[in-house]
Amino acid sequence: MSSDDELIALDRAHLWRPYTSSEDHETRPLLVVDRAEGPWLITAEGRRVLDASGSWWCNNIGHGHPRLRAAITRQSERMMHCTLAAATHEPASRLAAELVGVAPDGLSRVFYSDNGSTAVEVALKIAFQYWQQNGRPERNRFLALPRGYHGDTLGAMSAGDVDEFTGLFRPLLFDVQRPPDAVDHRWEPVFERLFALLREAADQIAGVIVEPMVQGAAGMRMYPAGLLARLREETKRADTLLIADEVFTGLGRTGPMWACDHAGVAPDLLCTAKGLSGGVLPFAATLATDRIYDGFRGDKSRALMHGHTFCGNPLGAAIAREVLAIYRDDDVLQAAKPKAAKLATGIQNMIDVAGVTAPRSLGMCAAFEVGALGYAGTIGWQISDVALELGAHLRPLGNTVYLVPPLNIEDADLDRLLDIVRESTERVLLGAQ
Ligand SMILES: Cc1ncc(COP(=O)(O)O)c(C=O)c1O
Repeated sequence: MSSDDELIALDRAHLWRPYTSSEDHETRPLLVVDRAEGPWLITAEGRRVLDASGSWWCNNIGHGHPRLRAAITRQSERMMHCTLAAATHEPASRLAAELVGVAPDGLSRVFYSDNGSTAVEVALKIAFQYWQQNGRPERNRFLALPRGYHGDTLGAMSAGDVDEFTGLFRPLLFDVQRPPDAVDHRWEPVFERLFALLREAADQIAGVIVEPMVQGAAGMRMYPAGLLARLREETKRADTLLIADEVFTGLGRTGPMWACDHAGVAPDLLCTAKGLSGGVLPFAATLATDRIYDGFRGDKSRALMHGHTFCGNPLGAAIAREVLAIYRDDDVLQAAKPKAAKLATGIQNMIDVAGVTAPRSLGMCAAFEVGALGYAGTIGWQISDVALELGAHLRPLGNTVYLVPPLNIEDADLDRLLDIVRESTERVLLGAQ
């Protein structure tokens, strides 16, 4: 038995895979990855496969970045973990200052956790508790967009609306109001209805949570910056909190550092994870304004009732500091602009493959549709199987095929990825050989 076969057998015997039925687990192909470098996943035999889904949207500056390797080694020799309860350490405190330095204006406080869902839970709890103890307890509900995705824990699922993920759990979730979904990709009526919901019940709304600019899990759905800017105005007018879930969009995925920057807006709370640690370690943060932080002054009954064992973990914080240093030193966002343009052209060109619709991109995030069924579709999966044979690991959202390569991918590798996506799509949709 080769070692890959052995690993697959062990995996199938004992592992429980995310979003995978036990049946699929036993039958669908598994890529056994031995190591990873830049945009490449590499097997033990040396087969190189492009990681087009960024290992679940977090691999923003490539696998195995030498500076991240060095940073983790350095930090591991000093301290790998230490509580953040009545103790602090250099990585956590310096990172907080550095994050505030790159955050949208006014976000001056950093609460650490360890994954995107939790960063969202923290934001929801902060918003709720803030109003409870600052004279507005009736502000206890949230508004959100249709088809939002904010993670898989119960609070994050309540804020979310991708029924395929959360539908079954509805009885366990708290009520979050949202307008009906967009018809024919027309977002204006959706936001108008959201604003109406906000105006109708402004006094009862603790916050409005959105994925700024791109709804990832809903199928890389993109909406105009002007609507985000208007949402900021409306939330200010209602004196409620705007929560930007930048777990996927942050750290330059859509072009600027934060997707909120497209609209020139600063939210009251911002959630970041995934690319924050370069996709290397579970690490997340929820950023807040001084106004909110000040609402937690007083005796200990007013403290934010939330904390995690690995809050501000020194390894994660050291890696995140190094990530920000790489962004500064390599001017990652500027350097990604021509790559984003190349990605945009490649994706737009997919329109001449019969059966491809709605090619779109924003920064280093691109997608197109290969059928009407969205997440329930199977054509995207067929394309993904062919792409794997050709050397790219795609993880479609059903019939939405998307690419989120590293922001610093080499041009030749990006060309190769676009070629593979084209060829695999043509083979499936046109039956071409
Ligand atoms: C917008 C958004 N929020 C939250 C999450 C949840 O992050 P995690 O998987 O780290 O819990 C995701 C994950 O894809 C996401 O895209």
